[in-house]
Amino acid sequence: MTAQLLMCAPGCFQVSYVINPWMQGQVATENRVRARRQWTRLHDVLSSMSTVSVIEPVPGLPDMVFTANAGTVLGRQVVLSRFRHDERRGEEPHFARWFADHGLSVRTLGDDVMFEGAGDALLDRSQPLLWMGHGHRTDARAASLLADTLDIEVQPLELVDPRFYHLDTCFCPLPDGQLMYHPAAFAEASRRVIESRVPASQRLVVGDSDARAFACNAVAIGRRIVLNRASAALVAELGRRGFGVTAVALGEFIRAGGAAKCLTLRIDEPRVGSMRQAA
Ligand code: ARG
Repeated sequence: MTAQLLMCAPGCFQVSYVINPWMQGQVATENRVRARRQWTRLHDVLSSMSTVSVIEPVPGLPDMVFTANAGTVLGRQVVLSRFRHDERRGEEPHFARWFADHGLSVRTLGDDVMFEGAGDALLDRSQPLLWMGHGHRTDARAASLLADTLDIEVQPLELVDPRFYHLDTCFCPLPDGQLMYHPAAFAEASRRVIESRVPASQRLVVGDSDARAFACNAVAIGRRIVLNRASAALVAELGRRGFGVTAVALGEFIRAGGAAKCLTLRIDEPRVGSMRQAA
C-alpha cells in the first residue's frame, strides 16, 4: 500500500512572528520564489513514492504549510491539534474541516490541553506505541488523554532544548524499530527511557551539527529517508542500516523552524495492533 501524505503549498508562507528560536531575526527574510521551488521539489520527490494530498493555504496563517502540526492520525481517527500559540490557532478549523471531508473521525483533547499533533506525537514503526514530546508545545497531561482517545500506549518524552521544540525535530522512528535521535534534546530521565526501550544496536545517534541541519526531521517511507541535509557520516551510517537518503534543501522553511517532516503529515497511519500495555 502506498503511503498517504498531506501537504500545504507555501502560497501564504512567511516568517511573520517569532514563536521558536529559529524564527528569531528571520521575520520577512524568506525568499518566496525559492520557498516555492524548495517545496515543489519536496512535493515531487514525495509524490514519486507516496500519494500526496494538498490542503489550500489560508491567508494570514503563514505556518499552515507545516501540516505535521495539524493533528495525529491513527487508523480512521485523528486527534486535532490545540496550538500553544495564538498565531497558529486559526489553523485548527481548516484542518478539522479537511480531515472530516476526507472521512476521518475528528477527536480533540479539550480546549485547555495543548497538543501539536504529529510534530510531537510519533508512532513507533514496529510496535503499537506512540512517542509523545512535551515541555515546549504539547502539555505533559496530553499523554494519558491521547492514550485513552486512540487506545494506544503513549510514552511521554521531555524536551529541554528550545531549538528542538517539537519531538519531530530531534527524534525519528524508522522501520524495524530503529530510531534516529539527538540525545541532547531530551531531559536525562527521558533519555534513559529511550535507552531502556530501544536496544543500543537499533539507536542511531545524531550529533549536534546534523541535528541543527534538521536531519532528524525526516520523512521515512520504506527504506527511503527524505531530509533537508545530512553529513556524509550520517548518510553512510543510514546506508549500513539499509536506508537510502534523498536530500532536499529546505532552507527557506528552516527560517520558520521546520523542514521535511514538518511539511508533511502521514494520513494513512495503520494500527499495528490495538493492545494497550500501560498508560
Ligand atoms: N513556525 C512553526 C512553529 O513554530 C514551525 C513548525 C514546525 N513543525 C514541526 N512539526 N516541527 O510552530
